[in-house]
Amino acid sequence: MDKLSNTGSFGRLDLPVLRSMLSTNRLGRAPAWDNELWDCIDSTNNRAAELFTQGAPEGVLILARQQTAGRGRQGRTWISPPDAGVYMSFLLRPSKDRTDLPLHTLACGVACVKAIWECAGLEVGLKWVNDLVVSGKKVGGILAEIPSSQDGRAAGPTASIPLVLGIGINMQLDLSELPEELKDRVDSLENLAGQPVDPNLLVSSISRHLEQTLDLLASGHPAEVLDAWRLHSVTLGKHVSAVSGTTEIEGLAVDIDQGGGLIIETATQGRVTLHAGEITIRNSDGTYA
Ligand code: BTN
Repeated sequence: MDKLSNTGSFGRLDLPVLRSMLSTNRLGRAPAWDNELWDCIDSTNNRAAELFTQGAPEGVLILARQQTAGRGRQGRTWISPPDAGVYMSFLLRPSKDRTDLPLHTLACGVACVKAIWECAGLEVGLKWVNDLVVSGKKVGGILAEIPSSQDGRAAGPTASIPLVLGIGINMQLDLSELPEELKDRVDSLENLAGQPVDPNLLVSSISRHLEQTLDLLASGHPAEVLDAWRLHSVTLGKHVSAVSGTTEIEGLAVDIDQGGGLIIETATQGRVTLHAGEITIRNSDGTYA
């Protein structure tokens, strides 16, 4: 992977600058539909879902400099202070008969890892399902959502479903302003890289890599996406703990399956595949993070 050179227009997202950098065919280039950049919005995922109900086509990109109700996985808040991170959502419209929807989020994780390497020179690891981590600290995450179909059906083509891929990446978080319980668990790209990172370059790079990985899925090559995920995984080969329904699972994360599920070798239940939820990884001192 090559590292891209920064443009010097650091600090702020800017639609014309981004447009000049985009080298995609579909993502961020929806026909007859503008991308959006908000100074402040509740959640870019909400806005992408809203645009779906208005008939927006696949590829529309929503960006924000700040979110007041940013969401993470498991119902968590995604803290989104002004210009401290990249907050972005793509509206996709995969066809209804696609069975590989869970792989879209893995593909997005792979795309983010490649883009961060190119733009910040940082090796990011993927913690199942899609936490972007450096040295055990979270620098970003992905929230894939299918907005409620009732609204969508009224406006959208019936052959497709809406899939919103939301990406949050910490660019220059002031760690001192975070809640106590997060301070030791998160980090930001600029802090780790020790230099500014261009958010426009990052968004254009994510868009390009995401389009490539989604194309692999669409053309029937999921194995390449899964292999790329494995390559960047910081989960496989580690002892992990997870809760699945009411059951607690502990064991060695050995692989991901064709659907992106995490296969865990346990001492008591044999191989268990986790399809949803969250894991913690055992540290070398025996504690879990
Ligand atoms: C996670 O929990 O790791 C997923 C975080 C996803 C956050 C992004 S920020 C842009 C988009 N809008 C949201 O409200 N959430 C996602």
